Amino acid sequence: MRFREAIIGFIQLITRSKLSSFGALITTVVFPVLAFLVILDIQGYIHNPYFKLFIYMFLGPAMIFGLILVAVGIFFGKQSIFRYEYVKEYFSDPSRFQQARQIILLVVFLTVINVIIITLISYGGYHYTESVSFCGELCHKVMKGEYTAYQNSPHSRVACVECHIGPGASWWVKAKISGLKEVWAYLTNSYPRPIPTPVKALRPARETCEECHRPEFFHGDKLKIKDKFLDDEHNTHVRSVMLLKVGTGGFRGMRAQGIHWHVSHDNKIIYRYADEARQQITEVILEKADGSRMIFHSPDFEQSSSPQQEEQEGKEVRHREEGGKHQRIMDCMDCHNRPTHIYLSPEEAIDQLMITGEIPTELPYIKKVALEVITPPYRTTQEAKDAIRTKIRAWYKEHYPNIVEENNPLLEKAIHGVITAYTENVFPEINIQWNTYVNFLSHDGCFRCHNEELETKAGEVISQDCELCHVILAEDEKEPEILKQLQCE
Ligand code: HEC
Ligand code: HEC
Ligand code: HEC
Ligand code: HEC
Ligand code: HEC
Repeated sequence: MRFREAIIGFIQLITRSKLSSFGALITTVVFPVLAFLVILDIQGYIHNPYFKLFIYMFLGPAMIFGLILVAVGIFFGKQSIFRYEYVKEYFSDPSRFQQARQIILLVVFLTVINVIIITLISYGGYHYTESVSFCGELCHKVMKGEYTAYQNSPHSRVACVECHIGPGASWWVKAKISGLKEVWAYLTNSYPRPIPTPVKALRPARETCEECHRPEFFHGDKLKIKDKFLDDEHNTHVRSVMLLKVGTGGFRGMRAQGIHWHVSHDNKIIYRYADEARQQITEVILEKADGSRMIFHSPDFEQSSSPQQEEQEGKEVRHREEGGKHQRIMDCMDCHNRPTHIYLSPEEAIDQLMITGEIPTELPYIKKVALEVITPPYRTTQEAKDAIRTKIRAWYKEHYPNIVEENNPLLEKAIHGVITAYTENVFPEINIQWNTYVNFLSHDGCFRCHNEELETKAGEVISQDCELCHVILAEDEKEPEILKQLQCE
């Protein structure tokens, strides 16, 4: 009975204010739907990213908004319970006082429930906005390229946020703020196509990549075998073999060496670049643990006028964080700028699908024909698909009419494979064509610094010796001798 009175009292309390009533209405309508959906989601039944967006970005906030209105109405409305007469009325009459106690108990009870629900919503919402589905699928038009390339990469099981945000609250907040801007750009259709790199708000690689990879532990050399197909009639399968000097960042007395020498904590490489894409490097400063420095300049770099000034600039660099203007401390990303959004070159894309058999190697000249038809720029994916199909058919009709007539399935398979090679790497709708994004893990990346242009005052350059980074053991050979020796065959 008493409980009923308390509820009635509470309802009266709410209905005294229009604002509270309105808030209560929203909450009452939203609550059951929301609770049901959140439970379904947490159980893993909901997969549609738009639906999750609706739950966490619309229903969740709506309910919280309703609760806030209720509280504001009760405490600060015209009929606020803080008014003197109101308090007096309750405290002077014992039976009223009893009711007030009940109401307070009820409110405490409801608050506990609300806190639980809000926690659930926040938990679900937090996980949702951290999920690969939110990042990669929700704005699928914008992220189509990144998402597709990601799924085909070694990091396809690493969530987007692991690299793009990393641990800790401050980066989380930064990311959400820039995320809001992105949502706005998406809604107003004003986002850039393609999305420009380098990503300005990307957290320094040393804090993200090194959560999982420790440079001091990369040891030794790595044997890398590359399969390729020549553009002759038989699509001859050849291989290149190289020993990559992956090296280490140095660990417990082991000297830093090889390619990962750059990320040793003893070396600091700071460089200046002339363009946004960081492709033209004009100055490289190498600081070693013993405090010695080497400064390499390109000929057109304006020399700092005095040693003091240089010293001053060095200090500035040290204090300046990642993203200082046109200046950067080298880290993983200066080589691994495409750890997961790996767009292949036309040749690589075709070779990979030939190795798996998706493009049949028994079809004469398919490597040559495939390369010819996927390379030109197309305006839409559909246009590309149609053109690839028509051109391949036309070519075989002219040169191998018997295949077109007798072995149509083989030809169809090849067409399908070639289209896959295209659609996995090129996204004309968002202006991602072949080679839109440069992969620095190649001569393009290394030779930005390892070249003849950058020189110290004494004329030293950063080495370009072919054996500095790798030993080429075989190049485009049908049966590399070295693989027999190593008994890889
Ligand atoms: C292994 C780490 C890693 C993961 C996982 C990852 N990214 Fe990236 N992402 C990067 C790096 C590194 C860059 C390039 C940064 C640069 O060049 O400055 C990048 C760039 C981007 C760009 C800019 C365009 C481009 O291609 O350079 C977008 C958009 C993007 N990522 C979205 C995503 C989405 C969506 C996911 C999840 C589906 C994801 N990323 C997962 C590391 C990662
Ligand atoms: C959450 C953990 C995690 C983070 C963060 C992460 N990686 Fe990885 N990385 C992995 C896993 C898992 C693999 C795949 C290992 C495998 O399957 O052999 C991998 C593989 C790699 C490889 C080897 C690729 C190959 O071809 O075999 C490279 C290079 C690499 N990561 C670089 C990076 C860089 C650079 C970053 C920072 C942008 C980064 N990773 C961030 C977990 C991570
Ligand atoms: C100077 C360029 C450069 C820098 C800087 C660099 N790497 Fe690498 N890394 C390479 C090259 C080249 C390879 C070999 C790639 C291959 O196998 O094709 C490699 C290989 C790797 C591998 C795979 C190792 C294996 O045995 O397969 C991982 C993981 C990796 N790097 C992570 C990192 C991380 C994390 C950082 C930053 C702390 C980093 N790298 C900095 C160039 C670099
Ligand atoms: C931002 C400039 C820069 C880039 C980019 C760069 N390097 Fe270097 N690298 C240097 C400097 C500086 C040295 C030291 C030169 C010296 O000591 O004379 C060096 C030295 C090396 C060494 C010798 C390390 C040792 O054991 O002493 C190797 C190996 C190497 N780089 C490989 C690479 C590879 C592979 C890439 C591309 C994936 C690359 N570098 C990209 C600046 C760079
Ligand atoms: C600063 C480091 C560095 C130097 C110096 C260097 N390379 Fe490379 N080279 C690389 C890297 C990194 C790759 C890409 C490895 C991979 O695919 O993972 C590569 C790949 C190659 C390949 C294989 C290409 C392919 O995809 O089949 C050949 C061939 C090659 N280099 C030849 C040379 C020759 C010849 C020289 C001397 C003029 C040279 N390199 C100097 C870093 C270097």
